[in-house]
Amino acid sequence: MTGPSEAASLLDGLKASELHGAELRKFAMQLASGLEGYDWCGVYRLEGDSLVLDEFVGEPTKRTRIPVGRGVCGTAVAEGRNLVVADVTNIPNYLSCDIRTRSEIVVLIRDGERVLGQIDIDSHSIGAFDASDERLLEEIAAGLARRWASESRSPRPISTRRSTGKDEMSDE
Ligand code: SME
Repeated sequence: MTGPSEAASLLDGLKASELHGAELRKFAMQLASGLEGYDWCGVYRLEGDSLVLDEFVGEPTKRTRIPVGRGVCGTAVAEGRNLVVADVTNIPNYLSCDIRTRSEIVVLIRDGERVLGQIDIDSHSIGAFDASDERLLEEIAAGLARRWASESRSPRPISTRRSTGKDEMSDE
């Protein structure tokens, strides 16, 4: 459960940043890790049939490559949907990262129909995530997708970009 004011300030922080690619993903995970219950925050990139660990904040994990279809992460890609797991002990397919993890949310990062990867958040509390977290992470995912590559395709001065009145996370 993430309140509207925490969500808004996190999204404002992301939109105000000029970062792209892995640097933006790292910054987004740093911001997310400040939310209550967000004990491990990471991004996986989809490369072929595997999810590859990208930027993360939290304990290092041995789950650096996850085949599509395996675990909560791989199942989300295989089924093409976000997953909210209130109690990971109920999931036979669950891949443990940290013995303290009790609940997990996975939100896909999409560019149109194409899945670029996912945001994966683990919590030490049971039932830490609900629809408010899914909405927030979907907005973060959309911002990450728009600036997925390391460099902006059309760099412009900040003043020009701001004066368009368009979403500052867009490369348009
Ligand atoms: N628990 C995940 C593995 C990734 S870790 O949570 C970082 C899963 O079941 O796919």
